[in-house]
Amino acid sequence: MSLLIDDVGELVTNDHTLGDGPLGVICDAALVVDAGRVLWAGPRRSVPEGAATERYDAAGRCVIPGFVDSHGHLVFAGDRAAEFAARMSGRPYAAGGIRTTVAATRAADDAALDAGVVRLAAESLRSGTTTFETKSGYGLTTADEARSLRVAGRHTDEVTFLGAHVVPPEYAGRPDDYVDLLCGEMLDACAPLARWVDVFCDRGAFDGDQARAVLQAGMARGLAPRVHANQLQHGPGIQLAVELGAASADHVTHVSGADIDALASGTTVATLLPAAEFSTRAVYPDARALLDAGVTVALAADCNPGSSYTTSLPFCIAVAVREMGMTPSEAVWSATAGGARALRRTDVGRLSPGARADVVLLDAPSHVHLAYRPGVPLVSRVWRGGDLAWSAQ
Ligand code: NIG
Ligand code: FE
Repeated sequence: MSLLIDDVGELVTNDHTLGDGPLGVICDAALVVDAGRVLWAGPRRSVPEGAATERYDAAGRCVIPGFVDSHGHLVFAGDRAAEFAARMSGRPYAAGGIRTTVAATRAADDAALDAGVVRLAAESLRSGTTTFETKSGYGLTTADEARSLRVAGRHTDEVTFLGAHVVPPEYAGRPDDYVDLLCGEMLDACAPLARWVDVFCDRGAFDGDQARAVLQAGMARGLAPRVHANQLQHGPGIQLAVELGAASADHVTHVSGADIDALASGTTVATLLPAAEFSTRAVYPDARALLDAGVTVALAADCNPGSSYTTSLPFCIAVAVREMGMTPSEAVWSATAGGARALRRTDVGRLSPGARADVVLLDAPSHVHLAYRPGVPLVSRVWRGGDLAWSAQ
């Protein structure tokens, strides 16, 4: 089956050779999807004759590429609503809260963990996400981390080993013994189940030397690095990420000029997670400074029960525009093409010929409405790989 999505008032392709600006915007556009891929995108008046067997009328509304959520922690049990409420009355966020979710996750059976990912993946699809990454990190034993990665791998190809999330209680006071476990037995068991290796390099988690050891051990087993860096305080995480050629440094909240220079000189994407700052009542990262220096910026939801319990990229876009100095166009690019860069993917995050047909129809005339109408569920229809995956009606 081939499909013509016709009468698109504004088509965001993220291909500057097809349309205006970095978003490659085409007005009064159409899109042809065939065999799960984009076959053609352009102005309506030039649609190739007989290009499709079926037609969908977008009625002048906006179409964008599906969001690519490059940072999530969906494999967990329980929630931490009480911790959130306490924070909103003044208690600070601390990495130690992760251990609450570790206890709940270890106690859960596989079916419960699977059901949790299914629920959150469905929720994120409804807000327009068609590709998502997810991590382990709430198991912290060899068996529990491997189990979390198996659960993750049933729902996405973008699976990250985050055994180095915090030091688990049984290793309290012996962090280097835990790093030895990570770098040996745990990675031996977990590397075949993941694509990426990540470390939470921050206050209350792992220092630069520990992070380097774990990332290099993962790389030696074929995993590609990404780093939770500089969320809670300034530290070595960003520069370590750039030095190791990581695909992404994530959070990037507390940055120095040297960090920005390092990011601008390398290939590491800065993945900003505004919902985490929102939910921990923390200072927002300065996206403007990063963009002005030429750094590639992605936006992701960081869905997890502690610091950011949302799956909504539209929410992240609205916050990034209002609080972080991004324009609506930059924010939409970062949540689509930027996320794809952070996952080193070229098949998603764009709607140009050859891309996977991950297509989101907004109940709005332009992408600007994603920030202009915060909190409104604007996603009307989602096709993933050319198939209708969700519809509001
Ligand atoms: O990305 N910062 C580390 N990990 C998560 C939070 C995990 C938690 O609090 O449970 C994050 O924000
Ligand atoms: Fe995270």
